[in-house]
This record gives sequence, structure tokens and C-alpha cells, in this order.
Amino acid sequence: MARVTASFIDIDKAAGVLRAGGLVGLPTETVYGLGANAEDPAAVARIFQVKGRPPSHPLIVHIGGAEQLDDWAEEVPATARLLAEHFWPGPLTLVLRRGPRVPLEATGGLETVAVRVPAHPVALALLSAFGGGVTAPSANRFGSVSPTTADHVRAELGDAVDHVLDGGPCEVGVESTIVDATGEVPSILRPGGVTREDLEAVLGYPLAVPATSDIRVPGQHPSHYAPSARVVLVEPEDVVAEAERAQALGHRVGVFLPSAFADAAPKAHAVVPVPDSMTAYAHGLFGFLRELDRRGCDLIVASLPAEEGLGLAIANRLRRAAGPRSSV
Ligand code: TXA
Ligand code: MG
Repeated sequence: MARVTASFIDIDKAAGVLRAGGLVGLPTETVYGLGANAEDPAAVARIFQVKGRPPSHPLIVHIGGAEQLDDWAEEVPATARLLAEHFWPGPLTLVLRRGPRVPLEATGGLETVAVRVPAHPVALALLSAFGGGVTAPSANRFGSVSPTTADHVRAELGDAVDHVLDGGPCEVGVESTIVDATGEVPSILRPGGVTREDLEAVLGYPLAVPATSDIRVPGQHPSHYAPSARVVLVEPEDVVAEAERAQALGHRVGVFLPSAFADAAPKAHAVVPVPDSMTAYAHGLFGFLRELDRRGCDLIVASLPAEEGLGLAIANRLRRAAGPRSSV
């Protein structure tokens, strides 16, 4: 369970901010969100403005419990209910047909809506005190690294956010898994905190999962989750040599050092030892990227973990951190 520092007074205050059309930084088990009243188009519009996010890029509606699903979505298939029952509260987002309560501003004009119940006591307390749905993208500027502490939110958004609830560091560390549940057979649109293996165990049949590089969610861009430093991906056995080569060329290199090479002590500006456990790696990932930026690195050399379990979501975020930036 995450360390909880927000008080009941804080939560009441944050619920008041939402009612007044303001924006709240809120902790979830995945990353911090930038929340607004889902039914207030002006507040939703402010999210896009503060994030610098294109209005065609749809948001997730956070709700307090699976029993509220039919308030927000229509024609919910049995498979979606099964997944909601198993994984909510938790890092799973279901894309369903949009119900009339959801303004088109929140869905980027789509007739579908993304919904999830976050597994964080502060988020759940806020949703309960507020009573409605809260649209919340990750609380970072568009394209940059998602925040996993309240300090990240304050540092990145400052006064643009009316109130930040501090719920401690996010436990999971990568965003929710987004599943398109509108059809007969669900499919993964974005890998995340719930693994494909866990979803398939509940469904009893395999999901079609596109290769991570092919995953397309409306409004997504090749470069996302990007630190200021350029990210270069190489094979694990080449990480040390590539880091030293770039350092010798005058770069300030940050290295994600795989544990198999933990003894190598590469000549680089900063070294992050990559945890063996994918749970620990996901938990730390965005913080590692931020830390290397903070330490003034201009180039980060990393490799991809095996793309199974949580490794699939980690590899997806690393690929996109390394993606071409001109299109953003
Ligand atoms: O863990 C998370 O999901 C975090 C926390 C705050 O809940 N939120 C998050 O939101 O990652 P954001 O806005 O950074 O990413 C939401 C993703 C976007 O890539 C968007 O394209 C997709 O959800 N999405 C939203 N509505 C959709 C829809 N109707 N159809 C397909 N994709 C959708
Ligand atoms: Mg995001």
C-alpha cells in the first residue's frame, strides 16, 4: 500500500476544487493524474490547455467503483464486466461505448470512452467525496515523462494546477493497461500495469496483442514519455560499450545498466542499476529518467527488458522515450 499523506481536509478541499471547475493533481497506483470534473467541458478543456495536449487525444474517466460503469458507458459486453470484476480497482482501463454523461470534449470526439477505477486510497476517497467521474490524463506536459510523486506534479505544472493531493510515490509506476472491450474479443491498445498474461488467465483465451511498436491508440505519437536527454536503445551486451563511446565523444551519458553487467562500472556521467524485478523496474522507471535529466545527462543509453509480463509495458515506454521527436 502506498504511503498516504493527504488528509480528509485535503480531500474535501480537492473535491471542492473539482466542483468549482478546477484541476486537481491526484495520486493513483500507476502515475499521478491531472483531474477535472468529467462532466464539465470547460474544466476538461483546461486539462488540454495546461498539458499542451492536442484536443483529439482522448482522456480516461476515473470512477469510484465497477457498479458505476453503466453511468458512463453503454452496451457493456460481458467480457468487459468480467475484466472489471477481476481487475478493479486496479491498473486496467476499459474502452467502451460512450454514455451520454461523457462530453465529447473528454473523448476527443470519439463515440467510445475509456474508464477505470484506480486502486489508490486517496484517489478513491476523492472520487467518493466528489461523487462524479474525474477525467485525468497523466499530470505532465504532453510528451514528457509521467509523474510518480506529488513533487513531480508540482515541479512540472506549478500554479497551473489548483490543488495537488500527495499520496506518496505511485506503487506500479507505469500507466494502466488500456483494453478495447467494445468488440467480442478484447485487445490491448496500450500495455501497462495489468499484464497480458493476467488478462488471458481471466478470459481463458489469448488476446491479440500487436507488436509494441505497432500499438496505436488515437492521438498517440511515436515520441512520448520522453526526458530532455535523447534516449538510445541497444542490445544489453552493447550498453557499456555504447555508453563509453558516446561519453568519449563528449556527451554527458546516463546509463541504464542491466544487472548482468553490474560490475562493469562504465565511464559515464551517471549510472542507474536496472532492477532485476520487473515490478521494481516499472516502479522506478519514470523516476530514473527524471533523475538522469536532473543530473544533466544529454544522452541515455538503455536496453529493452524481455517483453513479457510487466516487461511489455516497460519496453513500450522505453521505445517511445527513444522515438523520433520531430512529430510531436
Ligand atoms: O494509469 C493511467 O492510465 C493514468 C492514470 C492517471 O490513470 N492515466 C493516463 O492517461 O495514462 P493519459 O491521458 O496519459 O493516457 C490515456 C490514454 C491515451 O493514450 C488515450 O489515447 C487513450 O488513453 N484513450 C482514452 N480514451 C480512449 C478511447 N476512447 N479509445 C482509445 N484510446 C483511448
Ligand atoms: Mg500520459
